[in-house]
Amino acid sequence: MLFSENLATVAYIGATILFILSLGGLSNPASSRRGNLYGMIGMTIAVVATVFGPRVTPAGIGWIVGAMAVGGSIGIYAARTVQMTQMPELVALMHSLVGLAAVLVGYASYVDPSASASFTAAEKTIHHVEVYIGVLIGAVTLSGSLIAFGKLSARISGTPLILPGKHFLNLAALLLVIFFGAQFLGAHSVTNGMTPLVIMTVIALLFGVHMVMSIGGADMPVVVSMLNSYSGWAAAATGFMLSNDLLIVTGALVGSSGAILSYIMCRAMNRHFLSVIGGGFGTSGGTPAAATSGEPAGEVTPVSAVETAELLRDAKSVVIVPGYGMAVAQAQHTVYEITKLLREKGVNIRFGIHPVAGRMPGHMNVLLAEAKVPYDIVMEMDEINDDFPVTDVCMVIGANDIVNPSAQDDPGSPIAGMPVLEVWKAKTSIVMKRGMASGYAGVDNPLFYKDNNRMLFGDAKKMLDEVLAALKT
Ligand code: TAP
Repeated sequence: MLFSENLATVAYIGATILFILSLGGLSNPASSRRGNLYGMIGMTIAVVATVFGPRVTPAGIGWIVGAMAVGGSIGIYAARTVQMTQMPELVALMHSLVGLAAVLVGYASYVDPSASASFTAAEKTIHHVEVYIGVLIGAVTLSGSLIAFGKLSARISGTPLILPGKHFLNLAALLLVIFFGAQFLGAHSVTNGMTPLVIMTVIALLFGVHMVMSIGGADMPVVVSMLNSYSGWAAAATGFMLSNDLLIVTGALVGSSGAILSYIMCRAMNRHFLSVIGGGFGTSGGTPAAATSGEPAGEVTPVSAVETAELLRDAKSVVIVPGYGMAVAQAQHTVYEITKLLREKGVNIRFGIHPVAGRMPGHMNVLLAEAKVPYDIVMEMDEINDDFPVTDVCMVIGANDIVNPSAQDDPGSPIAGMPVLEVWKAKTSIVMKRGMASGYAGVDNPLFYKDNNRMLFGDAKKMLDEVLAALKT
């Protein structure tokens, strides 16, 4: 044992402080690297103090180190090979593992007599409440995250599954969970308590499946951040079951920051926070995405890369709106080359970032930071929206839903009410994409047919390379 009880406590306090500093750092692109570093150091201290701490026997260390080597190798492989655009799927899969861990720890600490051997009757009841709630949150997180993984990776259709009386089903599930909870706490032996615990686990797993299956494609950002929050609460519940203070604090930090992120996402998508955390949200206001097919409707005006370069060269103010297609094409470095060139020519060029652009929170900010675009020209949606009427050219790169005017004009649209970047108010907008395919929400985009809009068809990287070459000549 390297860490005595006291030393482990000191290490845990140090790790907690580092986690808080990490969250603070991650709130700003300029300090996010430092934030990540704090998080990594904090986690290393936490793991070392736990593995070599007072609660692990020397015989157990070998098992833990072996498991960490296997898990760590899989993690390193996954992180190195995953495409940036597949990151949300990976995150959803990781959340499901947190849920699975909470369920397994719950069952283990219920059947292990030594876990509660020294407890008084009252402490035992508290421990059983922790087990029940921990397994409940863990099971919802596990199945919900697996379905989210399926939807984000297009293995499961994005069309929302609307069961008749879905809210009554959820309510019935809640009542059953309470009923079996009472049975579980009243059980006099582990054998008697096992049946209500297993039934509740099945109900919770089904609830998680139902909750995420009933989400429409356009609402997935909210689900991603909400499951992030649930995984934090699952970790906190595991901390209670294992009487591990650090796990409780860390889980609570993840749970509450995920809840704040969900709230921000809800505002960005114009959804109600309470109906989100209740499950089965966001689809009642509009038609399911698949029902309003993304079939193109109208005439578009194509433009060439050379003409695009001319429009950019003649402009005094330019706004670039990046979306998922820029991430797929990995076009951010060329975007920056063009930005540098135009800035040298005195053009006022800025970026407009929608909160749900791409496939994960902050997706575009990460890509632009990677390409070294200065932070001071990267604007949030609210900061840039009023400036479109005085913008000469708005270049939309692989974005679709986030610049769709039907969010404002068509109350029947699946994205109705979602705030969007009002790019059509610029003197000229140029949309860069490969064809007329719809975006993630599966709806047509009237922006493409507007008189002041031009379509530059092709892969974003290839077309931007051509625009850059034309700008240089
Ligand atoms: P989307 O609406 O998904 O549109 C992306 C467009 O990029 C597509 O229409 C596609 O058209 C084009 N594209 C794809 N590959 C391209 C390439 N190589 N070169 C050029 N264009 C390419 O993206 P968005 O506007 O960023 O909106 C995000 C959507 O994702 C929202 O509906 C949001 O709700 C959802 N979502 C977001 C998140 C988070 S947290 N950000 C998570 C899950 C879902 P073509 O195929 O015709 O090229």
